[in-house]
Amino acid sequence: MCAFFIRPLEQLGSAGALILSVNNADGLGAMPRDSRSGPYRRRSILIGFRWRPLREGDLAGVARIAAMAFPQHYEDPACFAERLALSPSWCFGLEDAAGALKGYLIAYPWPVGTIPPLNAPLGVLPEQRDALFLHDLAIHPAAAGTGQAQAILERVVEEARNAGIGVIALIAVNGTADFWRRQGFTVADTTPALEWKLASYGKGARYMLRPARGVR
Ligand SMILES: CC(C)(COP(=O)(O)OP(=O)(O)OC[C@H]1O[C@@H](n2cnc3c(N)ncnc32)[C@H](O)[C@@H]1OP(=O)(O)O)[C@@H](O)C(=O)NCCC(=O)NCCS
Repeated sequence: MCAFFIRPLEQLGSAGALILSVNNADGLGAMPRDSRSGPYRRRSILIGFRWRPLREGDLAGVARIAAMAFPQHYEDPACFAERLALSPSWCFGLEDAAGALKGYLIAYPWPVGTIPPLNAPLGVLPEQRDALFLHDLAIHPAAAGTGQAQAILERVVEEARNAGIGVIALIAVNGTADFWRRQGFTVADTTPALEWKLASYGKGARYMLRPARGVR
């Protein structure tokens, strides 16, 4: 068994990370709590990441990453395409130094206290747009644990605030509520109607909110 991992001493930002990691990886899948150890094993040499607007040409890569990151929440690629078309300014792609997609965030304005359908078209965005709904955030295992999720969340929260959106909303799945708490989210009170819709996201799904101010 051989493994070594160098993490920069400074806080990693959305670009310029230098990570060396070599491991005897044996699989991908949902990333565990601490992706620096445990069943998740690094196997890449990574130099630099960059968040940029998501493009139509990324959608095949989005579907591939989504299949790994959300094995229990399949969504038709047409859903990603529709959300990008409806909300291009709130969708981002993470690329590595070679330009390969290593993560994505899809978000759109949405009413606070309501949940969009999973794996179904939205049609149009509702008139009421007081929250930014984070539909998906997924980081490829080759880039996980390097601060990329946090970097794009900080950017999106700031941009939402600047756009006059007061709340960021999401549904935590994959047991990630603790990750979201660390990003300033709390589990919101729900109504029976909301609970019913939440159930369609699977057992353990949590509707979480945070104000679009401050970072962490
Ligand atoms: C959850 C996910 C987005 C985190 O991405 P990431 O780029 O590895 O996260 P970061 O490196 O930015 O981590 C930021 C902080 O959160 C912590 N963290 C990461 N994953 C965590 C988890 N599952 N639970 C709790 N904390 C977590 C990190 O340790 C780090 O803490 P630190 O600042 O004290 O070091 C990524 O693991 C992923 O894509 N998972 C599969 C898809 C998924 O579940 N998305 C969210 C669904 S709602």
